[in-house]
Amino acid sequence: MGNERLVDVMYGSETGNAEAIARRIHAELGEHGLSAGCILPLNSYEQTCLSHVDEKSPVQSRMFVFVISTYGDGDVPFNTDRFFKYLRKKSHPVDFLRNVSYAVLGLGDTNYTNFCNGSKRLERALKKYGAKNVYYRGEADDEIGLHLVVEPWIDGLWDAMNKYFGAEAIAPALQAQTEKLDPSPAKAPTQLNGVPKPAELKLRVEESVGPVENSSTKTENGEFTGRVCGARLLTSTSCDKRVWHMEVESDNNLSYQPGDAFSVRVRNNAEEVDELLAILKVDGNKVISIYDGENLVNGPEKVKDTLGWRYDIRSPASKKLLRALADSSTDAADEQRLLLWSSRTGRKEYEANILNKSASLLDVLLGNPSCVPSINILLELLPALQPRFYSAASAVEYTPRAVHFAFSVVEAEVASSVRRGVATGYLEDLCRKFIDGERTPNLVLSSRSSGKFKPPAELDVPYIMIGPGTGVAPFLGFLQQRSVLRVDSENLAADVSLYFGCRRRDTDHLYEEELDRFVEGGTLSYLSVAFSREHEHKVYVQDKIKAEGQQLCKLLVENEKSRVYICGDGGEMVRGVVEGLTSVLQDHGGMSKADAKLKMTALERSDRLIKDVWY
Ligand code: 2AM
Repeated sequence: MGNERLVDVMYGSETGNAEAIARRIHAELGEHGLSAGCILPLNSYEQTCLSHVDEKSPVQSRMFVFVISTYGDGDVPFNTDRFFKYLRKKSHPVDFLRNVSYAVLGLGDTNYTNFCNGSKRLERALKKYGAKNVYYRGEADDEIGLHLVVEPWIDGLWDAMNKYFGAEAIAPALQAQTEKLDPSPAKAPTQLNGVPKPAELKLRVEESVGPVENSSTKTENGEFTGRVCGARLLTSTSCDKRVWHMEVESDNNLSYQPGDAFSVRVRNNAEEVDELLAILKVDGNKVISIYDGENLVNGPEKVKDTLGWRYDIRSPASKKLLRALADSSTDAADEQRLLLWSSRTGRKEYEANILNKSASLLDVLLGNPSCVPSINILLELLPALQPRFYSAASAVEYTPRAVHFAFSVVEAEVASSVRRGVATGYLEDLCRKFIDGERTPNLVLSSRSSGKFKPPAELDVPYIMIGPGTGVAPFLGFLQQRSVLRVDSENLAADVSLYFGCRRRDTDHLYEEELDRFVEGGTLSYLSVAFSREHEHKVYVQDKIKAEGQQLCKLLVENEKSRVYICGDGGEMVRGVVEGLTSVLQDHGGMSKADAKLKMTALERSDRLIKDVWY
């Protein structure tokens, strides 16, 4: 058994309650000596070891906490449907689920029938495949107040998980399985981005003298470096959001399919790192090496690079970090405040001051000026900075030298100033530097398959793409590839249509020229654009789909090969589009609502309705 004590938290949330509880559990893992894995909706199970045996991180050394709500009369949340479908599929290699350990918290409302059905279904499925239950299933009732069950359930969860991780290490039956599946568990990685997991802490930081490593370009398994070779703002300056097109070339041969994504390593905002170092009274150019026992973990590298590249200094400060910060405060008021926020009794204060305000380490230090922690404390307690994933907006057949991306700059008002997201802020700065003719640092990337979300291999398969906003990005890759294949092929190509949505023609009509050219050249048979803010009422892609439903219905019902792809915001947009398609089947296919829903399910099961969504 590995010693990672890694816990993935997954949720199924209709209105956000289950997600908020899941996020809280995830944020508090560190302070209970557990390593925080992913926090994802159940539909994103492919990004966890729930869909495959991840040799790098054997399932035996990890646990899952599931928080899942039920709405209406026993319905499961929209962001769990694919997962339940996956559990039902006999052909999937769900066998290894027997090695998964889990705890389930269900939310529901006793005013409705099938109370907490989602959590019951989930547990039934997990048990069926032999997954190991670590803690009792909680059933929180919204009728009397979710907190009455949620709070004691969470309080008891930590003990149960710690017992599990302690006890499992000597459980002979499981050990035998472990050995069978993973003959060398000791080799399981204990780091992410060079940051050790809390379980094996006690770092030693030594001042070093060169040669200094360039943390930004050191590649690990499967990664390669690239540089920005093109950038342009896709939105007009009058638009209050900014979407960038960025092109990255590499000396490596690019190899990917349309629809695939790339992970990109990003750097924290340099000013924030400098501000943090000023508070810590540490010279950012100081060269350090970090050891775990006798092993060199990182370095020698500049402190500003360590904090810049490796550590997540932005996410809400964990309670464990706050407790350490309390110890580093010289003023009694600061110390008391930080102790309260980090304590069990201070749960409400922690929520109000840290979680709800997204207060980062820097925010906490600015608000508690007597607190000056040592750099060691931070290097031990800050989480690793995660790479970010972006879908390719290109096809290698069309632009062999460079991969393209589109990203929307995330901005949020924090403490009465506008803060850009770490990743999109960093990438935006690179784009601006490139446009200004400045040198840009290399990027470290790695490609990841999109699974089923790829264009049909045959040109005679008709399909419909639905992608409002940056959801259009992968479809640029679909169309680029198609334009090359059409020229090379003698076969007649089937019709493909694209439904795109944006606010206004003159502000955020992303890739307008490119899409028009694909229409003119015949690669794209039909383009429909929903301008949401040009009319008195909002017009969304699903409104266009409904208005143009007859053709669409004919295609879906009569052509057994036809497909629909949906890409973009996995919340309201996907739900709206699925509802739109369902009503098209009712209105033009003569189906009842129930039959239309069954048809949609059948389309999804047969991989004719394929989604690539984010939350
Ligand atoms: P809005 O911002 O005017 O509401 C890309 O972001 C486009 O998707 C925008 O035009 C946006 O419209 C639209 N959009 C927002 N919510 C949506 C939803 N639930 N379904 C479909 N499109 C949506």
